[in-house]
Amino acid sequence: MTKVFVFDHPLIQHKLTYIRDVNTGTKEFRELVDEVATLMAFEITRDLPLEETEVETPVQKTKSKVLAGKKLGIVPILRAGIGMIDGILKLIPAAKVGHIGLYRDPETLQPVEYYVKLPADVADRDFILVDPMLATGGSAIEAVNSLKKRGAIHIKFMCLIAAPEGVEALQKAHPDVDIYIAALDEKLNDHGYIVPGLGDAGDRLFGTK
Ligand code: PRP
Ligand code: URA
Repeated sequence: MTKVFVFDHPLIQHKLTYIRDVNTGTKEFRELVDEVATLMAFEITRDLPLEETEVETPVQKTKSKVLAGKKLGIVPILRAGIGMIDGILKLIPAAKVGHIGLYRDPETLQPVEYYVKLPADVADRDFILVDPMLATGGSAIEAVNSLKKRGAIHIKFMCLIAAPEGVEALQKAHPDVDIYIAALDEKLNDHGYIVPGLGDAGDRLFGTK
């Protein structure tokens, strides 16, 4: 069964408060999302494999660890996932970036896929699927379907804010996908928005309405 990790580091909680704030403007919102994405990337990469190498310090030769070179793929769910990419790439700059374009139909709340572009060697990569919001779970479930259909095997899902409904739905649909979140909120409202949430992540990131 899926594991759910809540990254409740004080810095993440602090920044998330300002991300939620309705008075935070587009520029600051973007910067804060970028910063939280970096902090989350630090936590989510804790299990990256290491290998031993030799290094010569000014004092003597010694054995030391470097990353074993696992192939990583970061996949933002468009649009709002884009806001987390640069923050993640600051820590893992060599990762390849795929894109999955999905929007939630405002009436049915069902995800509609409009774009997919992934690295060629999908089966050889460990993927981190990224979206600020996990609401009903429909978009994340569809994005994981899309990745798996194209051969992806190891997938983690990372988001800023999740509703319990979305976590449960994603766990049920994809019990092999671990979920990494900065905050688990209370519920969804009648329009499928997370309560208290942060509003519409894409609109707040890009200044649209
Ligand atoms: C938002 C958000 C997620 C989705 C979450 O995207 O970024 O992708 O809703 O909702 P769900 O869990 O109920 O599927 P939206 O559809 O607003 O598209 P956008 O990123 O293009 O604004
Ligand atoms: N998508 C968002 O951007 N916000 C929500 O609260 C739910 C879905």
